[in-house]
Amino acid sequence: MIEILSPTVAGIARARTLLLAGELVAFGTETVYGLGADATHAEAVARIFAAKDRPRFNPLICHYPDAELAFAHVRPNSMAQSLASLWPGPLSMVLPRRPDCPVAPLTGAGLDTLAVRVPAHETTEALLRATARPIAAPSANRSGRVSPTTAAHVVEDLQGRIAAVLDSGPCALGVESTVLDLTGPQPVLLRPGGITLEAIEAVIGAVAHEMPETSRPRSPGRLASHYAPQTPVRLNVTNVADTEALLAFGPEVPEARLTVNLSERGDLLEAAARLFQELRWLDAEAPRHGMVRIAVMPIPRTELGLAINDRLQRAAAPRPRS
Ligand code: TXA
Ligand code: MG
Repeated sequence: MIEILSPTVAGIARARTLLLAGELVAFGTETVYGLGADATHAEAVARIFAAKDRPRFNPLICHYPDAELAFAHVRPNSMAQSLASLWPGPLSMVLPRRPDCPVAPLTGAGLDTLAVRVPAHETTEALLRATARPIAAPSANRSGRVSPTTAAHVVEDLQGRIAAVLDSGPCALGVESTVLDLTGPQPVLLRPGGITLEAIEAVIGAVAHEMPETSRPRSPGRLASHYAPQTPVRLNVTNVADTEALLAFGPEVPEARLTVNLSERGDLLEAAARLFQELRWLDAEAPRHGMVRIAVMPIPRTELGLAINDRLQRAAAPRPRS
């Protein structure tokens, strides 16, 4: 059963306890209901993807009670500093992560960037201050369904999959936040949303539109689909070559000179939580040990295994050299 929490001091305190214990709590914002987890807790974030039934990892927005706390985790440029005048509000800014950013790599789908947002909602702000953690929250719907704007929608969609929903009434806007990429010299609109382009352009001038995938290749590294290790990747490996580092899964592991196990007990949630950090670690370590490839053991294609396999397949796909 989902606990329905009221937007009171007691309800917020209960939501905080659950979030800090790594549980999922949905909450209302001015845009739509979000499915929240402690963004620094990798397994809690993995639970978000499991609850949503998404067959792939997409980067999540981190929520903060104010701009100062948001900018402690990312590096704002002068455009971002100016746009903070639109916060609190339905604007998510994609910015480079700071080196000491405590947000789990899975939250940003392994990217060097992070989307941050300060929602305009009293109860949300109180919750964010109470937890004192960045809260990762995609819209609180199952994959392929519409975004929820009431607590009842959340219950309908996620019954039995999450711990609680903080019922702060219907969402005022009903459309998601505008997502703006500020990592390049020119700002790029990634998703239209609650804050209009006009409002943004009034602050920082012209904004480019993300081109449809078919008409032009997107800048490498800008989007999740382009993140891949430098070291070539070979999948579904049962015998590891001398020149290969091994990304293992489960209790029975073939011989290799350099091995990282995503989950010795064969737990997909644990594997998902560790995937990006371990892949990056191997990518950095393998060449230092004279290894030319990352070999990956088979990972079951069930539950979170679907998203893990999707990401590994992208990492293994042939790509142009940069
Ligand atoms: O209004 C909202 O934004 C709601 C509420 C709960 O805050 N959240 C929401 O999250 O709509 P979600 O996960 O459904 O959509 C997040 C969007 C996705 O299109 C994702 O690709 C993009 O933001 N995004 C997040 N982080 C990104 C990053 N580092 N780079 C590029 N795009 C990013
Ligand atoms: Mg969504």
